[in-house]
Amino acid sequence: MGSNKPIGIFDSGIGGLTVANSINKLLPNEKIIYFGDTLHLPYGSKSPEKINKYSEKIVKFLLEKNCKAIVFACNSASSTSFDTITKKYFEQTTFFNVIEPVIDYIKSSKNIKTVGVIGTEATINSQVYSKKISKTKKNILVKPMATPLLASLIEDNKSVFFSNSILKKYLQSKLLKGIDSLILGCTHYPIISQEISSFFKDSIEIISSDKLLSCYLNNTLKKKNLLSSNVNPIRHQFYISDYSKSFQIKSKMFFKSEIILEEQNIF
Ligand code: DGL
Repeated sequence: MGSNKPIGIFDSGIGGLTVANSINKLLPNEKIIYFGDTLHLPYGSKSPEKINKYSEKIVKFLLEKNCKAIVFACNSASSTSFDTITKKYFEQTTFFNVIEPVIDYIKSSKNIKTVGVIGTEATINSQVYSKKISKTKKNILVKPMATPLLASLIEDNKSVFFSNSILKKYLQSKLLKGIDSLILGCTHYPIISQEISSFFKDSIEIISSDKLLSCYLNNTLKKKNLLSSNVNPIRHQFYISDYSKSFQIKSKMFFKSEIILEEQNIF
């Protein structure tokens, strides 16, 4: 039994490749179809209506590819568009977002008392983490803070980025004072989780959705008897809506092995 149909994954760009990478590691028999909307990057500064419009087009594209599961590998899209889109298409596939596994983890954790959240403006303005956490665990204090420059700085150049002080400036903010854990509320941030942890002298817990999502996906697909039985070498497919050589080069940073990005403008 099971299903050898692909898993669709999408993000505003190539940040969601951190999620794809984690899924690929945990579930090497699964075929991945990735879509990065590099034409409309960044989503983080766009209105919920715009993010909704782009995300729906991508979901339709992945449904046409017959995906058994679709992962919103973008916090900005997960927080603004997931509910609206899944209401419309829930009968056609199983949907996942990068927020729910984090909320589940926090629900089960005993040590978290004050949790910070960093993410794009779209994610932080949606208040999704604060609302969902306060629904499940009333005694946890949530401290959200938008870090709008981080995603593009990470993409631009990791090494230059770390020699400058922007990360430090953000993390020093009063808004994050007293936190015992920090949610990386953007799929670009796992790339710098070590640097973030070092800033806090490894004294706080860093909560990253990439690994939590892949475990959550694995459990759900197992329960639904949808895991692949494929043992042949798998050729994943990676599409971006606006190709550039620089994205091709950067992709290696996010997806740890060599991949070929194909341009596909679906808009
Ligand atoms: N990777 C996206 C997210 O998780 C952030 C990048 C963007 O602003 O498009 O929200």
